[in-house]
Amino acid sequence: MTPKEEIEQLRTQLHQHNYNYYVLNQPTISDYEFDQMMHKLEDLETFYPQYADPNSPTQRVGSDINQSFRQVPHKYPMLSLANTYNEADVRDFYERVKNGLEGEEFEIVAEMKYDGLSISLTYVDGKLTQAVTRGDGVQGDDVTANVRTINSIPLQLRPNSGYPHEFEIRGEILMPWTSFEALNKERELREEQLFANPRNAASGTLKSQKSELVASRKLDAYLYYLLGDEIGNDGYHYENLQKAKEWGFKISDGMKKCKTVDEILDYINYWDKERKNLPVATDGIVLKVNSLRQQQHLGYTAKSPRWAIAYKFQAERACTRLNEVTYQVGRTGAITPVANMNPVKLAGTIVKRASLHNADIIQQLDLHIGDMVYVEKGGEIIPKVVGVDKTQRTPDMQPVHFITHCPECGAELLRIEGEAAHYCPNDTACPPQIKGRIEHFISRKAMDIESLGPETVDDYYQRGLIHNIADLYLIKASDISGAKNERAKSALKIVEGVKASLQVPFERVVFAIGIRFVGETTAKLLARHFKTMDALKNATVEQLLDVEGIGMVIAQSVVNYFQEPRNVEIIERLKEYGVQMSLSEEALSNQSTKLEGKSIVISGVFSKHSRDEYKALIEQHGGKNVGSISAKTSFILAGENMGPAKLEKASKLGVQILSEDDFLAMIENED
Ligand code: IVH
Repeated sequence: MTPKEEIEQLRTQLHQHNYNYYVLNQPTISDYEFDQMMHKLEDLETFYPQYADPNSPTQRVGSDINQSFRQVPHKYPMLSLANTYNEADVRDFYERVKNGLEGEEFEIVAEMKYDGLSISLTYVDGKLTQAVTRGDGVQGDDVTANVRTINSIPLQLRPNSGYPHEFEIRGEILMPWTSFEALNKERELREEQLFANPRNAASGTLKSQKSELVASRKLDAYLYYLLGDEIGNDGYHYENLQKAKEWGFKISDGMKKCKTVDEILDYINYWDKERKNLPVATDGIVLKVNSLRQQQHLGYTAKSPRWAIAYKFQAERACTRLNEVTYQVGRTGAITPVANMNPVKLAGTIVKRASLHNADIIQQLDLHIGDMVYVEKGGEIIPKVVGVDKTQRTPDMQPVHFITHCPECGAELLRIEGEAAHYCPNDTACPPQIKGRIEHFISRKAMDIESLGPETVDDYYQRGLIHNIADLYLIKASDISGAKNERAKSALKIVEGVKASLQVPFERVVFAIGIRFVGETTAKLLARHFKTMDALKNATVEQLLDVEGIGMVIAQSVVNYFQEPRNVEIIERLKEYGVQMSLSEEALSNQSTKLEGKSIVISGVFSKHSRDEYKALIEQHGGKNVGSISAKTSFILAGENMGPAKLEKASKLGVQILSEDDFLAMIENED
């Protein structure tokens, strides 16, 4: 077998195994065997770059190159469906179809309405060529690179399965409940904002600038609509989708052909309960006339087809009494109003608190204390108040007025123009904000003071031992353990932990001090660029904007932080106690200007250092890491598996490609 044949054979086999695993849920080989085959293919492709193919199963890993999406017009507009909410509407639809078809027999296909993000995929000669979001229905974003990372979307259709030469297939991209929950758990740990529901999470993921991130988020896709000249008008929707399944697409197993309204209603009632066992979110049922000829005969209104309709499930809802509205103050000072209600059962759990989001929502609901309120648990994790039963209101009930002052510290609240939330501006003296900042300071990725946890922080704060991050360094074991010495051992451990944090490198100190919007990566960029806390403190917005990767929001936030005298005072104290306030000798001595003025693209998979480490090395030596290849690119630092499109672009523009070893030799060489 020639290498080319071997590559092709491996690709065909891997596409088939992918289909067995992700579409049919019936793998025929072990994960280990699958990985072995994949590695073999990766090796061959690296060795024979001339046979590169963007649709190879090896290309699902994505890239960390930033992309802005190209707008692409839809060949056929992406319409939406008319919504219905009750049995009478379904009967009306059935009657309208019946009348429209003038007594001809017809079938209605009932199927799940998936609650994700609609996508239109184009296939030419069995290969995925384009993936476009719905956008405004006329044109959408070209998200092909991201969609390629979704395992249940075939890159190559199954050979000899009878697919048309060219067609479009539409469907929904979804984040399965399990991935959604895992993602939110991770975000909670990192103190990032949670996604409200899987649809938002899927949409946020698919619009991400980095396909590498998309690949890691484990999206899924169900397809439900075929289009194209060769699909024709004389076939049937249901039968076409069964064929599409043969070609390699994931099609719902729950579709049903119905002849009568009663069959349709049975289907709806069955799935209203059963859908809770599905791995992905659904929000209704879609009803479609099966015959394509009849569909064409019925035609379209301006907005939606006359041959289809969506029936939306009622979100689960309960009614209970509102007793009180309380307000929570977050770490950043944002205020969240919370409804406290009589306990009530909703979607399997007892609910007594629900989010009221912000002042506008309270006003829209015209909420009064004592009101009977409707609580819903849609796709969201936290239940929310969606309405009030005003018939049960009595004249003695008082309207809810949003607080004007912080419930924790009494400061007058602020509302930034254009933002829905109220803030407590007292960030230096408001307890939850202070405790939040101390908790951030001691967390693992910051100063990593293991011996201290949130409860201890709370305890010391209550006891007046600490008021800010600098106070941590003044704590003595005797302060902690008190007179009776009962907590002597743990007290010693805490003091030791605090002392050990003096060795934490400057990069992490920049992260730990908690400048708004300065995450771990940004902190590293700032530390390496400015080298000392004093330089960072004195940096102007313009100087900050000069740092690759720093935008206006961060630059302004850094300047604001150091304009606050309290912050400067705390930094001075930290310096006095011995916290690292500049890059270490080691980090400094590794610096040079060898790469000054060079724009370098990083691509592929590396074995000696991680991608982030290479980024850091480039910056330490004065170079700039850029996202995409252009005529201005100085060279590409290429690991294994550099994508074929990039290879082609590089050779077209004559950009030099350096291996890991070449690159390391280059920066290690004495000048
Ligand atoms: S068919 C012209 N089938 O619901 C008909 N849509 O407003 C095209 N959806 O934008 C749509 N599940 O994003 C169809 N089984 C299904 C669906 C479905 C979810 C979405 C789709 C569409 C919206 C309808």
